[in-house]
Amino acid sequence: MIYPIVLYGDPVLRQPTTEIAHGTDLKELIRDMFETMEHAQGIGLAAPQIGKSIRLFVVDGTGLEDEPGMEGFRKAFVNPVMLEELGNDWECEEGCLSIPNIREPVARREKLRIRYYDEDWNLHEEEYDGMKARIIQHEYDHIEGKLFIDYLTPLKKRLLKSKLSDISRGKVDTEYRIKYKV
Ligand code: NI
Repeated sequence: MIYPIVLYGDPVLRQPTTEIAHGTDLKELIRDMFETMEHAQGIGLAAPQIGKSIRLFVVDGTGLEDEPGMEGFRKAFVNPVMLEELGNDWECEEGCLSIPNIREPVARREKLRIRYYDEDWNLHEEEYDGMKARIIQHEYDHIEGKLFIDYLTPLKKRLLKSKLSDISRGKVDTEYRIKYKV
């Protein structure tokens, strides 16, 4: 099932998310999240973006042609905990399915260590760097109620204000179904 993607302006994107009860069957939801993400041609999707305020996101970098080392980087992160972010800041342009047609450079640390459960409730603790780390950081922010535009300078935000206000009213072109707060 493909969910409509919640747009910027909907309070669910800003709410603190709740932990998922251990052992909950998430198979169908995770399958639907992958389907929704693929349909929208995204490389990451967090549960709040389909209106669910829980600590879950999925990533899939395997389709990124110019990024080496993405084999197998298609997974779900359940109840993730960011343990550490290290290394230098590096800038890269980011976008977000909830903020269509806006891309801006964001500086993030180059490495991280994260603990999470997979969809079968196996616990993992792993390190990521580069583009994989960035995708995880962006999605992890979503479950903390944070968006990439929060990192922009006040001037940049002012310049984007009318675009963002259009997005929050659903006045934006997308190739995927959207849902916005009226
Ligand atoms: Ni996003």
